[in-house]
Order: sequence, then C-alpha cells, then structure tokens
Amino acid sequence: MNIIELRGINKIYGSGGSKVHVLKDIDLDIESGDFVAIIGQSGSGKSTLMNIIGCLDTSTSGAYKISGEDIEGMSADDLATLRSRYIGFIFQRYNLLTSLSAQENVELPAVYSGEKLEARRARAKKLLENLDMGERTTHLPSELSGGQQQRVSIARALMNGGNIILADEPTGALDSKSGENVIEILQKLNEMGHTVILVTHDPKVAATANRVIEIKDGRIIGDERLKPNQNSSKVYELKKDLRSTFAYLKDQFVEAFKMSIQAIRAHKMRSMLTMLGIIIGIASVVSVVALGKGSQEKILSDINAMGTNTVVIMPGHGFGDRHSNKYKTLTVHDSDLLARQSYVASSTPAVSASGNITRENISVTGQLQGVGEQYFDVKGLNAEAGRLLTKDDIIKGNAVVVIDQNTKSKLFANEQNQEIIGQTIIFNKQPLRIIGISEKQNANFGPQDTLQMWAPYTAVMNRITGNRNISSITVKVVDDVSMAAAEKNIIRFLTVKHGKEDFFTINTDSIRQTVESTTGTMRLLISCIALISLVVGGIGVMNIMLVSVTERTREIGIRMAVGARRSSVLQQFLIEAVLICIIGGFLGIFFAFGIGVLFKLFVRSFTMSYSAASVVLALVCSTLIGVIFGYIPAKNAAKLNPVDALSSD
Ligand SMILES: Nc1ncnc2c1ncn2[C@@H]1O[C@H](COP(=O)(O)OP(=O)(O)OP(=O)(O)O)[C@@H](O)[C@H]1O
Ligand SMILES: [Mg+2]
Repeated sequence: MNIIELRGINKIYGSGGSKVHVLKDIDLDIESGDFVAIIGQSGSGKSTLMNIIGCLDTSTSGAYKISGEDIEGMSADDLATLRSRYIGFIFQRYNLLTSLSAQENVELPAVYSGEKLEARRARAKKLLENLDMGERTTHLPSELSGGQQQRVSIARALMNGGNIILADEPTGALDSKSGENVIEILQKLNEMGHTVILVTHDPKVAATANRVIEIKDGRIIGDERLKPNQNSSKVYELKKDLRSTFAYLKDQFVEAFKMSIQAIRAHKMRSMLTMLGIIIGIASVVSVVALGKGSQEKILSDINAMGTNTVVIMPGHGFGDRHSNKYKTLTVHDSDLLARQSYVASSTPAVSASGNITRENISVTGQLQGVGEQYFDVKGLNAEAGRLLTKDDIIKGNAVVVIDQNTKSKLFANEQNQEIIGQTIIFNKQPLRIIGISEKQNANFGPQDTLQMWAPYTAVMNRITGNRNISSITVKVVDDVSMAAAEKNIIRFLTVKHGKEDFFTINTDSIRQTVESTTGTMRLLISCIALISLVVGGIGVMNIMLVSVTERTREIGIRMAVGARRSSVLQQFLIEAVLICIIGGFLGIFFAFGIGVLFKLFVRSFTMSYSAASVVLALVCSTLIGVIFGYIPAKNAAKLNPVDALSSD
C-alpha cells in the first residue's frame, strides 16, 4: 500500500523575472514501511520535496495524498493536524526549543495533539530511555552533545507515532560515530514499521536504505531498489488517549500559560522593562483616583459636620453681603412658625454674640451662640462631660452654658472635666453656669481656634444681646422630603411673611452636590491623563511583542512543524502579552499602595482612599491592554508559514 502519492508536483518560487522552478513534474509513490533515501546535488530540490511531503509547504501544482487523504484544499490547521498525526521530522540542526528540557521537547507534539499529561510524560520518558537518554531528561538542549540532541529530536518525531519519519540530513552535523548511531536507530524504527524517508549526501548512508531516489535540477533521474520492503504489512499505529474538547482546550490553555511563563522568565530584563509602562500607568491611575476620593471624603465629612438634611436661613442677601448684620429681620416667631410646617422636623433659632469671657483673673474673647435644644442633634455634636442643653433650659431661659474644647483649655488649663462642670464664668458681665463640655469637633470650615460656647437662645436674647432679633435659623427637614422642595417652600413662606426676600438660605445638600461634581470632574480629568500613560505602556508592550515574534520566528516554525495549530500559536503569544500586562498591573497596584503609605507619612490632613472598584478596573484595563496590543503581534506569529519560519535564523 502506498502511504505517499505525489502526482505532477511542481514548485515554483517567486514570480515574474525572478521565478525559480525548483521541482518539475515529480511523480512519486512511497510504500508504507519502506526505507527511502533521497540523494542529489546541493540545490537540486531535496529539502523542498521533503517539506512538501511533510506538509510544511504546499506545491504550486500537482496532487498529493497521504495514506489516501488528498491534501488539496486543506487549511493551515488541517495540515497541522495531518502533520501531528502522521509525520515526525528529524532536522539536520535538531531544531529543539532551547528553553525546554529534553523531556519537554519530546512531549511537545503530544501537547498539541491533546494527549493527557500523565500519558505523554510516561511516553516521552520511555522514548528517551529507549534511545539511551534516560539520564538526560531534564537537561536543556544547550547541555547536550549533538548526537544526544539528535536522539532527543528522534524521540520527538516518534512522540505522536511518527508513521512517516522525514529526516533531512540527520547526520549532517554529527561526527561519524554519532551519525552511524542515528542511522542504526532509523533502521530499527523502520523494522518496527515506520516509513522512513531520508535525505543524504553520503553514499554509505544511502546504501543502507531499501530504495534510493536521485534528484537533479528538480527532476527524479534515478530510482533504484536495493532491498525489498519487508515491512509493508506492518501497520504502525499508536493508540492515543485523547481528551474531550473542553479538557483539550483547557489543557492547551494551561500549556500555553506555562510556556508563556517560561518565555517571560527567559527574558527577565526585557519583560521587566516592558512592564514598566504598565506599572507606571496603573500606579498613577489607582493613586490619582485614591487621592481624589480621599480629598473628596475629607471635604464631604467637613460638610457633614455642618449638619445633614438642614437648611440654614440667614439675614441679608448672601455671604458676600457686608450689611447683613444690619438686617434685623429673622425672629424667634419665624422659627416657631417654620417648626409647625409639615416638611420641617425641627427648627432652631440661633443668636450669636461675641465678647469677653472672664473667669477669676483670666479674660479672653470668644463666641457665644444662643441655640435651641435640637441644635446639637442637627450638628451632630456630643458632650464629653456633663450634659447638653435641654428643652427646659430653653423655655426657662436658664443661664447655663456648654463650652468647647478650646474654651476649656484656655480657661481651665489644669482642671479635670468633673471639676469644671458647675463652675461659673462671666460673659459680657453676665454669669453663666457650665453644664457641659462638648467633644472635639471635626475640623470644620473657618478658623479653628475660636472659643465657642452654647447657651439657650432665650437666655442669650434676654440677658446678653437684649433684643428679639436672631442671627440664623437652622431648619431640619423631614427625611422623605426633598431638600430642594423644602428650601423652596421655606423661601416662599418667609417671603410672604416678611413681604420681601430679606434673607438667604444655605442647603448643605447642594453644597455637597457641588463638591461631588467638581471633585468628580477633576478626578476624571487626571484619570484621563493617567490613562494616556497606560496607552503608551500598551504600545510599549506591542513593540516588544513584535520584536519578540521576529526573534522567535524559528521557535514558531518548530512548534508548527510538530503540530501546533495557528490558534495555539496565537493563544500562546496573546497569553504572554496579557500575562506581562497583568503582572505589570499587580505591581502597579502594589506601588500605588506604597505611594499611599508614603503619603500618610507626609500629609496629615487626609489620607488616600483606595476603592476596590479602581483596583478591579486597573486589572481589567491592564488585561484589555494586553489583549488589544498583544493581538497584532500574536496574529503575525500565527500567520507565519511553517517552512519560512523554520528557515529563519
Ligand atoms: N524560499 C525560497 N525562495 C526562492 N528559492 C528557494 C527558496 N527555497 C529554496 N529555493 C531554491 O530552491 C532550490 C532547491 O533548494 P533545496 O533547499 O530544496 O535544495 P537541496 O537539494 O535541499 O540542497 P542542499 O543539499 O544544499 O540542502 C535552490 O536552488 C534554492 O535556491
Ligand atoms: Mg536541503
């Protein structure tokens, strides 16, 4: 039975004037189990013929059948499958992958054909042992002699069965002893049923074959049978334990992943430099976002300290109004009326007075706020010692006062809280009894060293300022009413009551919204700049991957020769790019956290706030960059023609 049938094969390289007609109308049948030597002068077309037989290259015209299967119209991937099923290559220069050990090189064809891990390990080991290489399985090709490397490549050719063994000058690079050894091995394999086709210059080697074919200038000029083919009935078949499609794909992925890691480790410096762009990009995106978020949180917490859900009403036309102290329009009555509105939870008037605070021989200036009992609740202020104002205090207009931490440290530097409560201080000649000390307030807007005290507004109006006008009303809005609507109603209500709008309102919600939107815009802007650095990093990755593909063309050719499909090659390079980017991404995040730690050491007022979302986004970004910028180089690698790739240096 003929395992190989060539009919009218022509091979023409180039076109137009530089056309080279290398193979001319080759008709050739090779029986299964035969041992054929092809001889001829250099440049006669032997290697070209071998490459066509091995499906590494296609003929310009003519028909070719392997084992009865016509290869006409087969895709690159079909040819890869065919190679992996029938053909084992042995090259003059061994063509082992330098970064893989002997055993891994032998396993490679089975990786691409999808054999199970344990099965292929065991088989690779056995093949190497049979070739006296049992001791050398973990060595890299660079640690082996030429003869040993050639034996590894023979084992690799047999890995998937190697029905047809194609050996192009297998002894060309070896000393005579190792050369004889290789020929002996080939003879033994032939006896087991493998069809062997051997290209050689050496007449002694040719003489060991059953049949010698001579080629000259692309034509067969001699075909001599020295010995009968005794193995034609021995059908050599390897039963393989192949896996399901899913397991196959998973296995391919795992293998591509392992090989990518090996490739990255083989070029540590280069990989590191490639990652640098991604590291800087990701670190800047993550830390800029964290910085923006941290400062926003700080500002918002300051705003919250002003009270939530509140509208503050003040006399005048706005903060810039220099005459606002002249407007004496807001009254306690306004506050009482507002408190009765359905959308108002509570309303407290406030008066403020500044003046001298005296205790024994100490005298300082400070602010006295006349407030209602809800004031502390609205502002979120708690007592550190003693108590806060009660409704009773307000109604009765008790001459009691709550002091803040600043006042406490000024007036009672060396006294305990318990000793301070109950003492009396003088504010603008009026005695006030201390009933409580407030907790330290969050850093708020405005000067932070003012002395603040709070007394019932009734007491302040009656005893200290002596008039019925108040300086502000703080309205707390019912929970389920929108702030904007409530504010509008308050304005309408007071305008009608006063006959004109002689006051203005501040709504903490709208301040918060303004802050959120401005810091949000800033963050977006800076993030865009950081994103540009990520894109630059991505282009760096693409650049290096393109170089890497060019540099590793031969490796790609070898992988294709042993049965790698285009998709496997694409997958491997893509994984490599993505892996570089993801590692870069992780390092970038790590750096961003490092920046946060440093920031904490130097800046006290707020800390960077990292969000899980920005970290996840950073990783997604770096993966995407890997995919986007790795695709073109990977595609280039997968598009390579196996023969061209193999012949590159
Ligand atoms: N890619 C190519 N483009 C153009 N011409 C080519 C190409 N590959 C081979 N050739 C030409 O085809 C002819 C046959 O080359 P081939 O490699 O088959 O020779 P060979 O018989 O194997 O020679 P050697 O014994 O030196 O290995 C040569 O003249 C060569 O220049
Ligand atoms: Mg050649």
